[in-house]
Amino acid sequence: MCGIVGYVGTRPVVDILVNGLRRLEYRGYDSAGIAFCTPTGLRIVKEVGKVAQLEKKLIEVTTEAEQASAHLGIAHTRWATHGLPTEANAHPHVTRCGELALVHNGIIENYASIRKQLESHGTVFCSQTDTEALAHLIGAYYKGDLLAAVSQALKKVEGTYGIAVISARHPKEMVVARKGSPLVIGVGDQETIVASDVSAIVSHTRQVIYLQDGDIALITEEGPQIYTLDNASVHRPVAIVEWEIGAAEKGGYEHFMLKEIFEQPQALQNAIRGRLDISLGTAILSGLNMNPRELAAVQRLIIVACGTSLHAGMVGKYLFEGLASLPTDPEQAAEFRYCNPILGPNELVVALSQSGETADTLAAVRESIQKGALVAGLCNVVGSTIAREAGRGIYLHAGPEIGVASTKAFTAQVTVLLMLALKLGRCRRLSREEGLSLCQEIAAIPTLIEIVLKQAPCIEKIAAKYATVKNAFFIGRGILYPTALEGALKLKEISYIHAEGYQAAELKHGPITLLDEHFPVIALLNDIPGKEKTLGNVQECRARKAPIVGLVTEGDHEAEQVCDDVISLPRTTVYTAPVVTAVALQLFAYYVARARGCEIDQPRNLAKSVTVE
Ligand code: G6P
Repeated sequence: MCGIVGYVGTRPVVDILVNGLRRLEYRGYDSAGIAFCTPTGLRIVKEVGKVAQLEKKLIEVTTEAEQASAHLGIAHTRWATHGLPTEANAHPHVTRCGELALVHNGIIENYASIRKQLESHGTVFCSQTDTEALAHLIGAYYKGDLLAAVSQALKKVEGTYGIAVISARHPKEMVVARKGSPLVIGVGDQETIVASDVSAIVSHTRQVIYLQDGDIALITEEGPQIYTLDNASVHRPVAIVEWEIGAAEKGGYEHFMLKEIFEQPQALQNAIRGRLDISLGTAILSGLNMNPRELAAVQRLIIVACGTSLHAGMVGKYLFEGLASLPTDPEQAAEFRYCNPILGPNELVVALSQSGETADTLAAVRESIQKGALVAGLCNVVGSTIAREAGRGIYLHAGPEIGVASTKAFTAQVTVLLMLALKLGRCRRLSREEGLSLCQEIAAIPTLIEIVLKQAPCIEKIAAKYATVKNAFFIGRGILYPTALEGALKLKEISYIHAEGYQAAELKHGPITLLDEHFPVIALLNDIPGKEKTLGNVQECRARKAPIVGLVTEGDHEAEQVCDDVISLPRTTVYTAPVVTAVALQLFAYYVARARGCEIDQPRNLAKSVTVE
């Protein structure tokens, strides 16, 4: 993995591919490469590091005439899975005679046996990757028909793939295929662009076709012809991407992450718009496709997710149990799918995923469908695999999230879960009045976030004070515990400071041993039930000389007094506290990372969308 772009058409291909890779940079990667077709054969250029370095190398090693003559090409950003981030391991991978080039996202699980077999017949490998085995396998099957060779090879591989293949012998065509790794085809005027993600396509065309698992397509400048691996022709509809291109640009902010933090009032407004039913005191979530009777029959909720989405799911437990009396189990998606989960028709599995492409969450969805459970996807990316396979769900409508560290998707997920809890609650024990008052709380969220964002200069100052620490604990209680986990995750992801989230009461059972004057504790002291107890836990930390950064409800002098530094939050109810607190913690992590000079939008070793297990 990570990003794929391919082009066939009438314009010079190199700039289009490089710009496409730039649009995918946000996904995180460690090397990049390109292959393009010239009248004298394929040119392959690869480089470790950023797309800018690849671009520099392209200028050094290729001529303008060569670049101008090329109208077919593929390119890739690689996030290392098999083998170090080196030039040899970067994609595209080519067959020995250099005639055929392949870029690949996913993992070829049986690559070792394919490699062994090909080596026994004399094939020489140049990399440590699983992908190279697939390139040579296609080469071995090639007898003049590229589509047939790719089809035959794919029938032999186990694992997941999104691939694009070109050959010097076919200067006007490209073959792409997918199984478990997304691929989108953009249909333009006398040109076709393929990419692992629409953000590399929208500047060329808004007409896209989402390939489905098992699809293989022959791409020409006229568009795609799509087949199954058994050569049966299939039809996939053309969808229109509704994003504004500017939505995926920084718009004057220094980083995407900062832009995305600041656009949360708008993003959440979009997530909420049209979904609150003031007359019935409930939420309108039509994509769920379940009537009140069906919703009332649900006996248990299971939320499957990874990373930040898992933390949002953990907040969900408090929402569903508190508002709808529905037993709820948030589960890490990979653990869930391998534990042979006990599921039935009265269980609703909610898959939470910003990208809608996370491999483990997708696998958990498939397992849940197999087990006969009801499945709903809560995704941000429209048309993503989880959204499609779940069959029912709720889109976040938070707009494209580019920064690797998730921000607005988290607050949108919590808000959408709150609306789902309202709806499920109204089918059970909430009165119309209670529902109505919750509607008002939800409608107020964007304004509450605006108040937190006004604290940015103050948070920046506090962050500067703590920018040199090596460790930090985040503590919270009840519904704020998952928010503490998320605050710690944000800090470690982008500033590389070791940070852990704990239940406030748990610290004294071991972790407290680490505290001293260099080890700050970030305490979530919002004035909601449980605060008094957390204040006691903070005193225990102070007694060990730990500096305390408190997130405190405006005007709460009792809480302010136990803190060395105070981040002030607007007053909220229990159920909206996680959202406003998370925004303050995002700003804290951002300013700490900025003070440390970290690469905020693409932190080392991380990828935005993890499409491998
Ligand atoms: C990656 C990202 C995280 C994200 C997680 C789940 O690890 O770096 O920021 O929370 O995947 O992603 P999803 O798209 O499923 O929410």
